[in-house]
Parts: sequence; C-alpha cells; structure tokens
Amino acid sequence: MNSLNEQDTLDFAAALAQSAQKGDIYCLIGDLGTGKTVFSKGFAQGLGIADDITSPTFNIISVYDGVLPLYHFDMYRIEDIDELYNIGFEEYFYGDGVCLVEWANKVADEIPPTAKWIYIDKDLQRGENFRTIEVK
Ligand SMILES: Nc1ncnc2c1ncn2[C@@H]1O[C@H](COP(=O)(O)OP(=O)(O)OP(=O)(O)O)[C@@H](O)[C@H]1O
Ligand SMILES: [Mg+2]
Repeated sequence: MNSLNEQDTLDFAAALAQSAQKGDIYCLIGDLGTGKTVFSKGFAQGLGIADDITSPTFNIISVYDGVLPLYHFDMYRIEDIDELYNIGFEEYFYGDGVCLVEWANKVADEIPPTAKWIYIDKDLQRGENFRTIEVK
C-alpha cells in the first residue's frame, strides 16, 4: 500500500493487527527512520494496547498485554545469535501471542518459515513522507 503520512501507517498496521492470530510472526524490514516503530505503535493500538510503544533496542524484547500478548522485538543491536537464545526467543515465537520483529533480517536464520515479512520503503521522489508498505 502507499502511505502518505504517519497516520496512514498507523491505520494500516492497526487493521493488520486486528486480523492477527495467536502464533503469527510479523517481520518488519526497512532502513533507519522509515517507520518501523510507527508501524509497531499502530499495530499495538490494533491489539487494544494503550501503552506507548518504543523500540526495545537495549533489551531486545518488550511484552505488552493486549487482545493477544504482543512480543515486540528489535534485533538491530544483536551481534551474536546467542543473545537471542539467551532471552529464550523460542518461547515467544512459538507462544500464545503475536510477534512483531524489527530488523528480523539480522536474525533471518532463526525466523520460522511461516512468518510474514513487511517491507517499508521511502520514495523520496514522491515526497518526504511517502512510504510503500508491502506484506509478503
Ligand atoms: N508515511 C509515514 N509512515 C511512517 N512514518 C512516517 C511517515 N511519514 C513520515 N514519517 C516519520 O518517519 C519517522 C519514522 O520513525 P520510526 O522511529 O518509526 O523509524 P524506524 O524505522 O523505527 O527507525 P529505526 O530503525 O531508526 O528505529 C517518524 O518521525 C515519522 O513521523
Ligand atoms: Mg525503530
């Protein structure tokens, strides 16, 4: 889809979250500042989560309580795959909630084949706030 502004991204993510089911894993791929965390905020709203969502950069994962539990990962700072095993990620990936994984491309080998991949890209020729969002 084409997102013309932050609100479009919030709305799209919220709608997607409303169709999410237990065990779903959404991987969020995009360069710095494209809107992955904005997407995550919308996604959380769609699950009825009122908390303010920030990127869990330093502790890799944040857990939020919604219609379904939301397991929000940010893999950006992972340098060694052991960091992922140390937090027991399998319990979340194969757990009772929905996973949203920013920078999943950094740990691609550990991502289950059932995961959906969401690509957010800027298109500066079409404006500062223009984004394309593709779900694969
Ligand atoms: N169409 C749009 N969709 C989403 N965000 C937009 C859009 N247009 C402008 N923005 C702005 O782009 C910025 C996206 O920031 P955000 O923190 O979500 O990026 P990020 O992909 O998580 O970056 P990082 O990898 O550095 O964490 C915000 O300041 C937001 O207001
Ligand atoms: Mg972010």
